[in-house]
Parts: sequence; C-alpha cells; structure tokens
Amino acid sequence: MPKFLLFFVAILFVSCVNENISFDSVRERISINDSWSFYKYESAEITDDLIYDVRPEVVERNVVKDADSKPTEAISLEIKSKVLKPWILPTANDFINDPNKKYMRPEGNPGGDFPFVQTNFDDSSWEKVDLPHDWAIKEPFQTGWDSEVGGGMGRLPVNGVAWYRKKLDIPASDAGKSVFLDLDGTMSYAMVWCNGKLVGGWPYGYASWRLDLTSYLIPGGTNQLAIRLDNPNYSARWYPGGGIYRNVWLIKTNPVHVAQFGTYITTDNVSEDSATVSLEVNIDNDSKSDVKIEVSSEVYLLNDEGRKVGKPVSKFLPINTSVAAGKNSSVKSSVAIKNPKLWGPPPTQKPNLYMALTKVLQDGKQIDSYETRFGIRSLTFNADKGIFVNGERIQIKGVNNHHDLGALGAAFNTRAAERQLEILREMGCNAIRMSHNPPAPELLELTDKMGFLVMDEIFDSWERKKTPHDFHLIFQDWSEPDTRAFIRRDRNCPSVISWSFGNEVGEQYTGEAGAAVAHRLYDFVKEEDPTRPTILAMNFAKPFMELPVVPDMIGLNYQGEGIRQDPMFEGTDRIRTAPQYDAFHKKFPEKVIVSTETASAFSSRGIYLFPVTNALSAPVRNGSGGDSKIHQVSSYELHAVDFGSSADKVFKSVESHPFVAGEFVWTGWDYLGEPTPYYEARSSYTGIIDLAGFKKDRFYLYQSFWRPDFPMVHILPHWNWVNRIGKITPVHVFTSGDEVELFLNDKSLGKKKKAKYEYRLRWDDVVYELGKLKAVAYKNGKKWAQEEIKTTGDAALLIAEADRSEIKADGKDLSFVTVKIADENGLPIPDAENLIQFSIEGPGEIVATDNGNPADMRAFSSLERNAFSGLCLVIVKGKDGESGIIQLTMESEDIQQHNIQIQTK
Ligand code: GAL
Repeated sequence: MPKFLLFFVAILFVSCVNENISFDSVRERISINDSWSFYKYESAEITDDLIYDVRPEVVERNVVKDADSKPTEAISLEIKSKVLKPWILPTANDFINDPNKKYMRPEGNPGGDFPFVQTNFDDSSWEKVDLPHDWAIKEPFQTGWDSEVGGGMGRLPVNGVAWYRKKLDIPASDAGKSVFLDLDGTMSYAMVWCNGKLVGGWPYGYASWRLDLTSYLIPGGTNQLAIRLDNPNYSARWYPGGGIYRNVWLIKTNPVHVAQFGTYITTDNVSEDSATVSLEVNIDNDSKSDVKIEVSSEVYLLNDEGRKVGKPVSKFLPINTSVAAGKNSSVKSSVAIKNPKLWGPPPTQKPNLYMALTKVLQDGKQIDSYETRFGIRSLTFNADKGIFVNGERIQIKGVNNHHDLGALGAAFNTRAAERQLEILREMGCNAIRMSHNPPAPELLELTDKMGFLVMDEIFDSWERKKTPHDFHLIFQDWSEPDTRAFIRRDRNCPSVISWSFGNEVGEQYTGEAGAAVAHRLYDFVKEEDPTRPTILAMNFAKPFMELPVVPDMIGLNYQGEGIRQDPMFEGTDRIRTAPQYDAFHKKFPEKVIVSTETASAFSSRGIYLFPVTNALSAPVRNGSGGDSKIHQVSSYELHAVDFGSSADKVFKSVESHPFVAGEFVWTGWDYLGEPTPYYEARSSYTGIIDLAGFKKDRFYLYQSFWRPDFPMVHILPHWNWVNRIGKITPVHVFTSGDEVELFLNDKSLGKKKKAKYEYRLRWDDVVYELGKLKAVAYKNGKKWAQEEIKTTGDAALLIAEADRSEIKADGKDLSFVTVKIADENGLPIPDAENLIQFSIEGPGEIVATDNGNPADMRAFSSLERNAFSGLCLVIVKGKDGESGIIQLTMESEDIQQHNIQIQTK
C-alpha cells in the first residue's frame, strides 16, 4: 500500500476512535437506583423538625368527600417555627421567567448539624432498598373507619417522614465537570443534602426535577447524599404512594452543555412528502469564562426498539454562538425532511419515531451530545369535526389512568406500565389522560412508541382545596415552576396532543377571580409550548361562566351526558346538570369539545347482584347494583357513581354528538384509593380492567364499540348459579356484530338485533338452569363470532399462565402470572375463592400477589391469597444478573399442586 494511503487510513481510524472517546465522556447519564439506605420515622407525628413549611392541622380526620364535592377556600396559617422553604425555593429558579421573581438563597445551612446528613453517620442498620421505591405498598392495609390513612388514600401508610441515603463515588477525573442529580419523581416535599450541605428540593411529588451538585461534591472521594421526604396524609383523593418512586440519575457534563430539558422540537408543514422540523437548543455555560461554541444536530430514524438506524436522514446547519459565563443561550434552526415517516396512532397509522442528535463543539472539540426523541405528525383541531392526526380524523377512545401500578404501587416499572397499555390497546383504546398529574417519563416513552394519544395533565387543585394538604398549600410558590417544568419535560413527545392544566378545580366556582388564576397558568403553558391546545376538565362550569373562556378546548367531566338527572336526585345540593354538549358547542363554536371524564361506571369483576335494573344507567344502592356488606358492585355494567353514567349511556350521547372529539373513560384500570362507593375498601371500582389486570365484563362492552371490525361476542353473567335454579337470571351479550342468537342448553332463546344507539343485547327473563349458554353473533346477516359458557364442576385444578415465560434477568423485568381455579375438565370456576399459597425457587422473587378484589385487605406482599371470581395474580421478577429457571409453585387445599417455569436471561 502506498505510504500516503496508509497515513490516510491511520488518521481516519484515530479520528473515529477519538470521536468515540469524546462521545462517551462528554455526557454521562448514570442510573443511581441501586443500594440506598432507607429509614422512616415510626410515627408521622414524631420526626425531626426539618420541615419545608407548616401545614394546617387536620381536625376532622375521616371526612370522606365525594369526588365532585365543591372545593373550598384555603386556610391561611401563621408561621411560628423555622422552616426550610427559603432554601428550597431557589431550586425553582430555572422555571421562573421574571428575573425579579427568582429566589435568593439565604445564608446558612439548615439541617447541617443533623446526624442523618453527615458523611460519617452509620446507616448500616437502615433498610437497604433499590429505587424506584414505594415505602407503603408492601405494608398491611389499615382497616376500619378510624384508620390513620383512609380509603380515599388507599389505607396504606403513605404518610410520614423518611430519609434515603446513598454514597456516591466521584472519581478525581470528574473534577471540572458539572454534575447534576435528576429525580424523576419524589413523593413528596423532597429536600437534599450533599456532604452535610442543604442543596435544595422540590415539594410536588409528581415533578421531575434537578439539582446542581457540582459545588457540593468532592471529586476523588466518597460523597454522601441524604434525601428527606415528608409525605402528608390528606394530600390526595387517591393513593399517592410514598418515597423516591421513580428513577434517579447522575448526569455528568462539561460545564458548557445542553441545559435540562434543553431541546424543543416542533414540526410544521407536515405531509407524506415533506416536513419542516424546527429545533431549539438551550445551552448552559456553568464555567467562569465566556465561550464560543458550535451547535449542530442530525436527525436519525429510530427502529422499533428505539435505536437509531442507518445514516442521518437530515442535518441542521451548524450554528455558531457565544454563551457568557454563568449564563444560558439558545439557538434555533429548521430543516426540511423529505418523505418523512409520520407518527400516528394504530391501527390506521404507525408511530414512527426520530431522534435528533445534538452536538456542542468548542474549538472544534466535541463537548456535549444530547439525544431528543420526537415524531413528525400534524395535529388539527376542528370544533365541528374533532381531532385529526395527519389529516385523518381520530375519534378519542380514551381512558383516564392514575399513576399507580396496582400491587406494585407508585414505584414505576416499565413492564407493568407497558402491560397496562397492551391490555388497553386490545380493547381498542387509543388515548390516555394522565389524570391528574405528570406521569413517569418512561410512560410517555411507551405512549410515543406504541402510538397512544396523550392528554398530559398537571393539577387536581389550584388555590382552592379539595383535601387539607393537597397542592393548594404550595400553589402560590410552585404553580409557575411546576407548570413550566412539566411542559419543558414533555413537549417533545409526539404522543402528547394537549395540555390539561386543571381537573375540576375549585376556581370553576369563583367567577372572574377563578378565571384570572386560569389565565396566569394558561400563559405559562402557552409560553412553553404554543403548538398544542390547552384544556381544563370541568364538571361544574357552564357555558355562560368565566372559566371555560380561558382554555383552547372544552373538557367536560360527566356534563356531556348530564349529571344526576334521575328524579331521585331532585332537591339535592350536589351538582345536577342537563346534558351540556350542545350548549357548549353553541357558546364556543370555535372550541373543540372533549369529554375528559365519562362514565365513572363501576363493577366488581365477576360479581353479579340481583335483581338487575331495567335502566340504561343507574346509581348504586343496596339492593340495586350494590351490596355494602360485601363491598361489591354488580358486573351487569349498568351502574355508575351518582354523577356518572353507564358506558351504554355515554356511547349514545357521544355518538349522537359527532362534533365531540371523543371520550376519556374514568377509568381504564382500577387504581388504589378512592373506593367509591365503599370507603371501607382499598381500591377503586371504576376500572374497566381490575387492579390485577383482569378484564371486567365492561372490557368487552368497550371492545365491541371501539373495535367494530374485530369479531367478538361476550356473554354475562357466568353460569354457576346452583342457588338460582328456576329463578330469573338475565343474560346480557356484548358484540361487535349487530345481531345475536342465544341458546340455553341448545334451546334457542331467540335472536335479537341491536337498534340504533343500542350497545348490548338483553335477555332479561331467562329462567336459570344448570348447563350451557351459547351466543352466536351475526354481522350483516353473516356469522361473526361465537361464545359458550358452562356450569363448572368443583375445584380440582390450578392452572397458571405467565404473560411472558421468558424475562430479562435485570431485576426489573416482570412476568405476570394468572392463576385460575378450574374443575377437573380444566374449566375455570368463575366464582371460586380458594386460598392459594405461592412459593418460588431459582433466581427470582415474588414481588406481589393480587386478585383484583377492591375489598381484599391482605397485604400485596402476602404469599397466599384467595382467588377472587376464580382468579389470582402473582407478579414475578428475576434477580439482577442471575439467569436461569425460576420455578413458581401454587398450592391449595384439596387441589392438585401446580408449578410453572419462567426463564430469566
Ligand atoms: C371525578 C374526578 C376524578 C375521580 C372521579 C371518580 O369527579 O375528576 O378524579 O374522582 O370523579 O368517580
């Protein structure tokens, strides 16, 4: 080979290697979830006095208020004790726009002499935990009316003060770097000390926030982090969880780097032929000198695994700029992309994703690299027609979900969240409202990847209070930083289609004053992202009131169908409202209407109570849909909370108002807390899917309407009614077909056809006999689907099915194992309640067990559990780094023992 060519090859090689080295070392994002020491004070009353702020005392302890109670005025407090708030507020500064309103840190180091923050404090007796961690979820449920934590917050010990400590080894080579602590979610009132010095904190438990540790760390040594959380009781209307319940990262960068949430991508002029992608990059200069830098970005297509494939599809022209010492500056540029692969919701579209790789160069040397995932799609909002994605009208078939993951609590787990979305997708759901707070960032990664449309939401209360310790206590100080941080974090996600900045807030009731609060928040949202419409979810505000004027879209909770229209509610002092879609459409002809909450229908999976109402929708009372002795609601799926409506009634009202963009059902999954109508229980009844992930009958009702092309038919109730022989036992059938013939023991009970606005077929006079029910569905006269259910024999078998029989050995991945009690022929017994014991061998552990029964007070960590309506769930996790075969064994008296194997790799 000629010498000059050799030289050339050598240079190429060196430059590639150099690029790789600098690429890795310019920015590191290190998970620091493992091995924390944890200590929680035994009583919420007796703790240290390092408080963020004083809180109003709660005198009336167990006041249970219905969800739609009118929020009330905040209580003003006199501050007597020393509080740490002045040292915490400066953490918000990057998210406060007016320079005059930014906070100055006072002198002093509160808590600096407290033992738990000291480097040499011996925490060896503390519990060792890995994050994400929810300190309450494994504990016993608190029962009874006078329990410390009531049904509303899930009867688990979420309240209290706790500390997390971790040692950080910071190598000497980190000297000169900027080092940040990124916390995705800390429940709540977090305050952080590093090497004995108070760094800062963030009160709102759902916020993702950052601390700059640089000046507190000692490179070349072991550094001590100490985090104090103080989670108040009466802080929510649902289970908030407690602890560092999302991921925690250490970010190391050059002092000149892309800022936190430092890129903002928007797409315009989107078509299949081309799109304009605009990118704003925000650069922080934490160094002591002014710098000149070059910012350049490339766009890559991502594959299904989220990895970049091939060469860049486009490049932004490099931009030269300067950033003054200690300041921040941003650059903007746009690029055209030819034949973009668009992001859109399945089944008609595909959620293609791109990634912008941004590089920052100083004197030709790369000093930072930053990845931003995004999608190219157009969103159009039309007040008469609804929501369009890439020109196609997409009916919102959405659900509300709270943030907890059932028996796993608030501790975020990607696989558990993915499973929730998978089951929702099977039902035909295409949209999620993040009620009522920012989700884990990884949940939005999933919605981006899977193509769900998201209504991202931040607050359940503003200035007026719903519960004594909710967000209203910190609204004045934190509403701006929380709102801005929320939007900056999520605004690159293509799945997010709108910003909801309030749910049923008390300001609906306060006219101009309330609207002024809304205006202030609206402006924050629009300043951070003018591209998406805002919305408020309103259960009370009427078209003539002030509040609905503020948001871009109208969000109605239950008002579309009408609230408490049944004559039995005449004279009530609660909200009573005639159907409102037309009135809002008339008053705001330019605003899209979305039903942000519908239904709040409820049921206990597999429980059927008689007699069955003839109504299309009915409230629950003892003897009519509910039984307060057993704390269960009937699964004929005709009952709803007093202010709600059955699914059938909602379908009718949404379908007959085609200008309505669609609905978000309350709720997709059951959630912990808010067990209306039985506050003695621990979890909700409103889910279409129960807390364990088992489908209630309602699942098939939604599927029949939301997936009209998917052949299915579903019969209810089950057919194990030895005590009902000869009694009237109504049979209802859900189908995506239009006609059904029902057979009892092969004898036809007649064919029925769905009328317009009819969503179920009812045989209300069936006289029960043991045996077999068969439903044959037709569509357009042709056979479409068939289902058969049978009376079963006695319990003889345990049948276990893992949703995945192979999982990753990373200590995070999960296998969800459904255990069925079956008769000797393998037929699942729909009313079985047998107690099952679980044990495990091999490189795995049982994380939790559940059965979806809202009234089951056995701790989720228990290794034995009764089946509920024939089913039990066991959640299994592999051990980190240990591959092998996990053997899960199930035993139950008088039933053959059973075991299954799960491979971890
Ligand atoms: C709504 C409220 C939800 C939930 C639901 C229960 O009024 O917005 O958060 O409480 O009722 O039915």
